[in-house]
Amino acid sequence: MPKVTIVGAGNVGATAAHIIASKNLADVVLVDVAEGLPQGKALDMMHMRSVEKFTVRVTGTNDYADTRDSDVVVITAGIARKPGMTREDLLGVNAGIMRSVIGAALEASPDAVFVCVTNPLDVMTTLAYRESGVPANRLMGMGGVLDSARLSFAVCEQLGCEPADVEAWAVGAHGEGMVCWPRFTTVKGTPITELMDEEAVAACVQRCVKGGAEVVGLLKTGSAYYAPGASIAKMVEAILGDTHEVMSVCAHIDGQYGIEDLYMNVPTRLGRSGVEEIVEFDLDAAELAALQASAESVRAGLANLADL
Ligand code: APR
Repeated sequence: MPKVTIVGAGNVGATAAHIIASKNLADVVLVDVAEGLPQGKALDMMHMRSVEKFTVRVTGTNDYADTRDSDVVVITAGIARKPGMTREDLLGVNAGIMRSVIGAALEASPDAVFVCVTNPLDVMTTLAYRESGVPANRLMGMGGVLDSARLSFAVCEQLGCEPADVEAWAVGAHGEGMVCWPRFTTVKGTPITELMDEEAVAACVQRCVKGGAEVVGLLKTGSAYYAPGASIAKMVEAILGDTHEVMSVCAHIDGQYGIEDLYMNVPTRLGRSGVEEIVEFDLDAAELAALQASAESVRAGLANLADL
C-alpha cells in the first residue's frame, strides 16, 4: 500500500487525509507540532473506517520517524488567512514553518514526491524547492486544481450545467494575479466564450479569482478546506496512479511560455515521477501576455522572500 504523509493536521491537512482515506488511495500519516491533534484526528478517521469500510490506515504523530519512506509528502503546515488578509500576508510566519518542515520531511522520505499547499503558494513552493534541493519534477504546489474548480463552479452556476461536463482552466499566480483561460474552458467541448456573453465570462472569472476570499469572508475564522482537500487528493491520485492526467499545477517552469525558472500554475502532466511535462497550450498574444504578467507578479512576491 502506498504511503502519503500530510504535514499539518489542521483543516486542509485533515480534510485531504479524510478524502485520500475514503478513496482508499494510500495509508496516511498526519504529522503536526500540536501534541494530540494528529493522533486524535487519525483515531477519529480510523473509527470512520469501520463505517466507510476503507482498508487503508490513518495514523497521527509528532515524530517524522513515523513518516519514513512516504511516496508522497503533502505540506499544509502554516497559518491560514483571516478576513481582510491576502495570501501574501502569511509570508513571514509561513516561511519559517516551511523551512523547519521541509528538511525533516525530506530526511525521512528522500525519494518522495512533494506537494506544497501552504500559502502564499508560489513563494512557499519556491522556498521548499530552494531549501530542499529536491529535483523540480518531484516538487510542486497545489493551487491550480483548486482555482480551476472554482472557475468550473462559477460556470456551472452561470449556465446551470453539470460539473462533469465542464473542463475549466485557471493558471498563473495562486492569488490576485491569477489568470483564467475562457477560450479553453469548455462545456461538453464548447468554449464558454461561445456559450455566454463577455460580461458573463468576466463575472465567472471574477467569481473564480475572488472565490477563496469569499470563503474567508464567510467563515471569519480561517480559510477554505473542503475544495483544497479534494484538490490535494486529486493530485495524489494522479501521482500514485501514474495517470498522466493534465491539470493546473504550481510547477517549475523552465522556458515554457517564454517564462524562465519560476514556480507557477500551468497545465502539467502528473505521474508516478511527479511532474512529467509542462503542457504548452496554443495561446494567442493576449493570453500569453497575461500569463507572463502573472509570472512577473510571482517574481515580485519572491523578492519579499529575500528579506526574510
Ligand atoms: N510543523 C507541523 N505542523 C505545523 C507547524 C510545523 N512547524 N506549524 C504549524 N503547524 C500546523 C498547526 O498546528 C495546524 O494544525 O499546521 C496546521 C494548520 O492548520 P490550520 O490552522 O487549520 O490551517 P489550514 O486551514 O489547514 O491551512 C493551512 O494551507 O491552504 C493553506 O493558506 C492555507 O497556509 C495555510 C495552510
